[in-house]
Amino acid sequence: MCGIVGYTGHRQAYPVVLKGLKRLEYRGYDSSGVALLNGDLKVYKKKGKVSELEEAVIGQDLQANTGIGHTRWATHGEPSDRNAHPHQSASGTIAMIHNGIIENYASIKHELQNKGYVFKSDTDTEVLLNFIEDIKRNNNSSLEEALRIALRRIVGAYCILLVDIDEPETIIAARKGSPLVIGIGKGEHFLASDASPIIEYTKEVVYVNDYEIAIIKPDELVLKNLGNEKQTPFIQKLDLELAAIEKGGYEHFMLKEIHEQPDTIYDCLRGRLLHESGSITMSGVDNHLEALTSANRMVLVACGTSWHAALLAEYMFEELCRIPVEVEYASEFRYRNPVINRGDVIIAISQSGETADTLVALENAREKGAFIFGVVNAVGSSIARMSHAGAYSHAGPEIGVASTKAFTGQLAVLAMMALKIGYAKGSLNESRYLQLMKELEAIPEKVREILQDTSNIRAIAEKYKDASDFLYLGRGYNFPIALEGALKLKEISYIHAEGYPAAEMKHGPIALVDETLPVVFVATKDSYYEKIVSNVQEIKARKGIVIAVATEGDSVIPGMADDVMYVPDADEILAPILSVVPLQLLSYYIGIAKGLDVDKPRNLAKSVTVE
Ligand code: M6R
Repeated sequence: MCGIVGYTGHRQAYPVVLKGLKRLEYRGYDSSGVALLNGDLKVYKKKGKVSELEEAVIGQDLQANTGIGHTRWATHGEPSDRNAHPHQSASGTIAMIHNGIIENYASIKHELQNKGYVFKSDTDTEVLLNFIEDIKRNNNSSLEEALRIALRRIVGAYCILLVDIDEPETIIAARKGSPLVIGIGKGEHFLASDASPIIEYTKEVVYVNDYEIAIIKPDELVLKNLGNEKQTPFIQKLDLELAAIEKGGYEHFMLKEIHEQPDTIYDCLRGRLLHESGSITMSGVDNHLEALTSANRMVLVACGTSWHAALLAEYMFEELCRIPVEVEYASEFRYRNPVINRGDVIIAISQSGETADTLVALENAREKGAFIFGVVNAVGSSIARMSHAGAYSHAGPEIGVASTKAFTGQLAVLAMMALKIGYAKGSLNESRYLQLMKELEAIPEKVREILQDTSNIRAIAEKYKDASDFLYLGRGYNFPIALEGALKLKEISYIHAEGYPAAEMKHGPIALVDETLPVVFVATKDSYYEKIVSNVQEIKARKGIVIAVATEGDSVIPGMADDVMYVPDADEILAPILSVVPLQLLSYYIGIAKGLDVDKPRNLAKSVTVE
């Protein structure tokens, strides 16, 4: 949520910051802006996408070697020029950008208003900025000291960057709960919400921790805690290539990422799943096998698509490991005072590793003594760093706001974990273990097969693009896929869609069925197959339109459905990794047919770092 970029060094700051904002635009695209420090302070900002800012500044003086920039996902105040960041302090000498939410901003604003401050925007950011300036002026202190004092009063989450006319070539940054990476170059430093704006300049980075303040000049990086004690920056090497964050010939990131899945799933399994030797090597699991096999209960915590992966993992873990599993929305779990006992294992699932609700839910559980295992895609992210152990899903950077390859990567990791824990526990016998390993190994090629010819799915999308509602139904392992299919359609096409367990349909949603309602059945060959055939008949009996995801070679479902999208046969535990792919494509093609921006759907942001 909100993208932040900063630069100070020997280059012109504006082009570096602008390019960085374009890379981070997936985090929010309500407005954007830059502040350039060059003796004086120039601030340019504009409602809308970064391209609109780019046009608006044509002809302006953009010369500066120090600059900060922001792309916004609105929280406080509507998307508008005046609510766009950077904000300028009352005196006009300090500019600030912010990602996060200042929860106690109202009381601080009130205090400042009583002192005569007038606010130009509706944002919590402008309040914090003027609070800092007020402290600086009253205490006659440096910006850094004023910031430190201000942050002790702040409740909420933030990553902020500040530039001050009084401090040439300097950017001051602070974080709590919202990510910040610093890239280290020769005589230059880069700052960003993630590494994507940085990798083309340097691979040496420092991830700033919560409650740290960074004072950054072209030749100097000083890291301190809120107690003003110097911290030693931990410099890491980025394992990321520029090509991974570019479109590579595809029209959209979403399409590229859907098509990357054979490779990303393969990468996730590579070096871990060794069918020949019958072993699965996952250091995070290996090092904590005892805690995992003896778990009294597993609690899977996530949001959105990652929550759907968690739901599917519940089926896998209960079946293969015989461990009771609960699946929790992180946003509910964090506020519910949940019962957490010794012997409980909390598994957090997150693509970004920065989702605020998931992060805080884990912090709470960790404080209560739970063992935290993270299934995360973004390397070095907050959730990855705060987990006791974990396994990366190795899907690479996911830029499209709708999660696709990260989801199948999560499923591959969770399947390996279930196999490994189940086998180690003895709840999964050797022949089934080896059979499932073999099946899992074959999944990447089966996904490739689905992607070879997508013209049928595109035609189905064209046919139903004007429907106003969709129902998605599935049973067992395919129920979470029905939910995921409905979420993808909502996000990308703005068509109302609901996912339901197919049998539950009779308890209400069937009232919606008429000759205009497309009902998408995830109806692959599994142990629920006969039941789902009956559900399809129930819909057809009421003149509903049936679109089915069916197993290649099936003749029954295709005989009843209006349209069919085929997937190769697979074991029912793993088949969902296949059946989600046509549903991703269906949403993508419907979004395209409606002329929508599928990579940046309205109101959404890739990384939800506010609760
Ligand atoms: O980064 P996370 O996996 O923690 O994000 C969770 C959700 O915000 C995310 O899956 C969201 O639902 C996506 N837009 C789904 O496509």
